[in-house]
Amino acid sequence: MKLEDKVAIVTGAGSGIGRAIAVGLSKEGAKVVVVDMNLDAAEETMKEISKTKNNSFVIKTDVTKGSDVDTMATRTLEQFGQIDILVNNVGIPGSQEAMLLHTTPEEEWDRVVSVNLKSVYLCSKRVIPEMIKQGAGKIINLSSVAGIVAFPGRAAYTATKGAVSLLTKAMALDYSKYNINVNALCPGMIETPMTKWRLDNPELRKEVLNWIPMERIGVPDDITGAAVFLASSDSNYVSGHLLVVDGGMLTR
Ligand SMILES: NC(=O)c1ccc[n+]([C@@H]2O[C@H](COP(=O)([O-])OP(=O)(O)OC[C@H]3O[C@@H](n4cnc5c(N)ncnc54)[C@H](O)[C@@H]3O)[C@@H](O)[C@H]2O)c1
Repeated sequence: MKLEDKVAIVTGAGSGIGRAIAVGLSKEGAKVVVVDMNLDAAEETMKEISKTKNNSFVIKTDVTKGSDVDTMATRTLEQFGQIDILVNNVGIPGSQEAMLLHTTPEEEWDRVVSVNLKSVYLCSKRVIPEMIKQGAGKIINLSSVAGIVAFPGRAAYTATKGAVSLLTKAMALDYSKYNINVNALCPGMIETPMTKWRLDNPELRKEVLNWIPMERIGVPDDITGAAVFLASSDSNYVSGHLLVVDGGMLTR
């Protein structure tokens, strides 16, 4: 197993990609802290992990709140004594309606920026000093293909994912010398509760399929192997990388 004795925090682990990553890291031997603001959803992930492992626990956390994030890290350290891997996975798309910048309400803009970008700052800020003390760490930020190219009608989401991509590089520049690898995953279209509204509409689903050379929509587990790679010693000389996992979508 690639992650024996490692401790991983996965935010937004109650659903979709975060759940798949939490289960995947656990299968590789990691003790996983399942973090989500939705406690019931996080408990479901725990149940899935518990089928094979009994080494994880749940913390209800709103990752946009510094005090919650502090508790998340403190409880992890009390329970396990170390934090080796941080997966900053939480993200929201914002309104389902396509929104141009000038029609995006200010509260909507602030919400998307807070959940998608500030959360990465808050969780990383709390965990990095521990990783520096430990002399090693792996941070994986969930960006998106929308963190590399723009998508129409998604100004706030695209702006935050672009920011997460460059924040990943900025963090890699500053922390690689502490043996902390900072990388991002950039998924394409993955079938999760976030994308359900679009993919449940046959016309929109067909349109999305036309973007993907592999001619299928991704599933959360398509992201797991890339996350395990970035969390494990296999990626020890990889930092500041944006790893695209999109069925070829961005090759066009
Ligand atoms: N699904 C896709 O096609 C896709 C594509 C590219 C990137 N991504 C990114 O991957 C990540 C996961 O996406 P997903 O599709 O699995 O989403 P999802 O909606 O299925 O899951 C998101 C989880 O985050 C939790 N969450 C939301 N706000 C929170 C907060 N403030 N504090 C704590 N938990 C919170 C939710 O309760 C939920 O369990 C996001 O960052 C998303 O932007 C997804």
